[in-house]
Amino acid sequence: MNTGNADLIRIIRAQVQKRGPISFAWFMQQALYHPEHGYYSSGRCVIGRKGDYFTNVAVGPLFGQLLAAQFSEIWERLGKMNNFVIVEQGAHDGQFAWDVLEFVQKRLPEFFDALRYRILEPFPILEEQQRQRLEAFGDKVEWRDSPEPFTGVHFSNELLDAMPVRLISDGTEKLVGLNGDNFVFVERPVDKTRFNQAALEWIDQIAGNLQRGYVIAIDYGFLDEEFERNVQVRARHRHLDSSFEQIGDADVTMSVHWKSIVERAQANGLRVAGFTDQHHFLTGIICQFDRGGSPERPAGDWGQSPLPDSAKAKRELQTLLHPEMLGRAFQVLALAKDVNVEVPPLAGFEFARQLDQSR
Ligand SMILES: C[S@@+](CC[C@H](N)C(=O)[O-])C[C@H]1O[C@@H](n2cnc3c(N)ncnc32)[C@H](O)[C@@H]1O
Repeated sequence: MNTGNADLIRIIRAQVQKRGPISFAWFMQQALYHPEHGYYSSGRCVIGRKGDYFTNVAVGPLFGQLLAAQFSEIWERLGKMNNFVIVEQGAHDGQFAWDVLEFVQKRLPEFFDALRYRILEPFPILEEQQRQRLEAFGDKVEWRDSPEPFTGVHFSNELLDAMPVRLISDGTEKLVGLNGDNFVFVERPVDKTRFNQAALEWIDQIAGNLQRGYVIAIDYGFLDEEFERNVQVRARHRHLDSSFEQIGDADVTMSVHWKSIVERAQANGLRVAGFTDQHHFLTGIICQFDRGGSPERPAGDWGQSPLPDSAKAKRELQTLLHPEMLGRAFQVLALAKDVNVEVPPLAGFEFARQLDQSR
């Protein structure tokens, strides 16, 4: 028995009845992004304690503050240029943008003056939420519904795992069919086709628009060999057993296959500037704060460290860093165009191992 948004279930069922079994990528696109009824596009998704699941952003402001420092180092490397653009994609309710901008405005005023914050947002209802949250920053923030050329940094947290995927494994594809009125998986042989086409097209687009600077993507996944094609469905902090439960009311994700994204990025002229887990990435940034810059690694003045002395903020830090919590679950990939990625690495990758040893 399928559960979820009744209108959406009717729409999907009618399409499967008309067309026969359809790819899981199409089903996932409807469940998350159907213009009226999708979990994200309808604005129904709530992240955090009162919502369906936690992200780094929902843990508290520290995550955005540490990333703000990393963006500042990138700005310094690009020659402290004017009109440095931070592009965020998957900005959801604008919380990360708020955490970054508030910190930069208070602690890094020179950087604040030079930057523009651009949110790539295809869904009007989310753009409206972001505009309300970020009103205080006036025209520092701009919105686009698709990528445009930029120099600076493109950032995303848990964007890639929310991109539709086909379920292909060992020459077989699982399609979404019907048994009576209920959705079921139907297996069909398939030629070797990209299972994560949307993520590959995403990096094509971003690489095409990045004129100079970095792409930083944080997500959970696997480099290659240990990759698991497991779809996860989450609602109210519970993992559901089936993709056909709470359709349109639950989050659907697939872990990221980093290797294919790296290869596609390289084919587009980007270079790997670092790959590591979140624990090592954030630790590198924190150490940079503690050091306050050095002749070998001039960090500029990042100002006073945002590191916590309240019990609440210490818990935030622990959640982000702890290997059993988010520290190992997430990885960070940085790609670069037209910048020297050799030495020294960005602060976040100071403790990273080589790409092929990073798991
Ligand atoms: C798992 S949520 C992460 C939200 C936020 N980054 C965080 O970490 O709390 C994924 C977000 O990506 C957004 N998204 C998915 N595809 C997108 C696209 N092509 N462009 C912009 N946002 C997209 C969804 O609307 C959703 O807000």
